[in-house]
Amino acid sequence: MRNKLFHKTYIITGASSGMGRATALAFAGEGANLVLSGRDYLRGQEIENEIQVAEGNAVFLPGDVGDMDYNRKLVDLAVKTYGQLDGVITNAGILGLGSITEVDPELWHKTFSVNVDAVYYLLKFAIPEMLKRSSASVVINSSIAAFKTFPNHPAYCASKAALVALAKQAAVEYGPTIRINTICPGPVDTPFIHDSAVAFPDPAKAVENAGQNTLLKRLGQPEDIAKLSLFLASDDASWITGSVFTIDGGIMAKG
Ligand SMILES: NC(=O)c1ccc[n+]([C@@H]2O[C@H](COP(=O)([O-])OP(=O)(O)OC[C@H]3O[C@@H](n4cnc5c(N)ncnc54)[C@H](OP(=O)(O)O)[C@@H]3O)[C@@H](O)[C@H]2O)c1
Repeated sequence: MRNKLFHKTYIITGASSGMGRATALAFAGEGANLVLSGRDYLRGQEIENEIQVAEGNAVFLPGDVGDMDYNRKLVDLAVKTYGQLDGVITNAGILGLGSITEVDPELWHKTFSVNVDAVYYLLKFAIPEMLKRSSASVVINSSIAAFKTFPNHPAYCASKAALVALAKQAAVEYGPTIRINTICPGPVDTPFIHDSAVAFPDPAKAVENAGQNTLLKRLGQPEDIAKLSLFLASDDASWITGSVFTIDGGIMAKG
């Protein structure tokens, strides 16, 4: 039996698609109890059903992570449904494309609201619950965009860089009980990368190049990222906190 997360409860944001969905399936496969977040009701219900049919425990709550009260509700639901909270995977994100001079200020603020404020909100409500446990783990999904530029991605890059700093700050403040680590994926084959490619002159070519530019000559798959999040959430990573992991097929090694 696979049970690395048996009897443990996690909140996963952005669970209705891509990496969050793959992470939900991986965690459920290891016996975790899950509260799943996303905006799309139908896709959220689908992942909830898929886990329940496989005799896993998952409950989906639709909402906008940029809304502080929704984050409070996610934590309340975890505690009400499963009695405890052992970790959170902050994964929801948006691109907010546009150059510094042209991006709509509202979109700039929205990008920070979803990518950064939402993580602060979820930590704000989740930390007191996680501190009641003997150990807990947070995985924050940033991006290699925290360290590397992309055309017309200033809001995205700046917001993802902010997460690296926020995660380290949180790791220092809430250890040793709560371990907090950041993952920085490179190009992963989800709807997101196709939306990002719109900022390049030839979007289809940009996606193809993104895979070919890795040392491993392919895009990452959502499951590649889910495996790292699972490792970091589990006791296998019990001596890892405050760390930043690139998972990018080797792109950052190329400089
Ligand atoms: N794909 C890549 O190449 C790549 C690389 C590095 C980092 N990342 C990061 O990985 C994370 C997951 O992205 P993905 O590639 O898996 O993309 P995806 O398939 O498009 O999934 C994005 C998820 O975020 C959710 N979301 C977006 N805005 C939200 C909001 N305001 N409130 C609640 N949920 C919201 C979406 O929910 P709905 O679908 O229900 O709206 C969806 O579940 C993002 O933070 C992204 O920045 C992606």
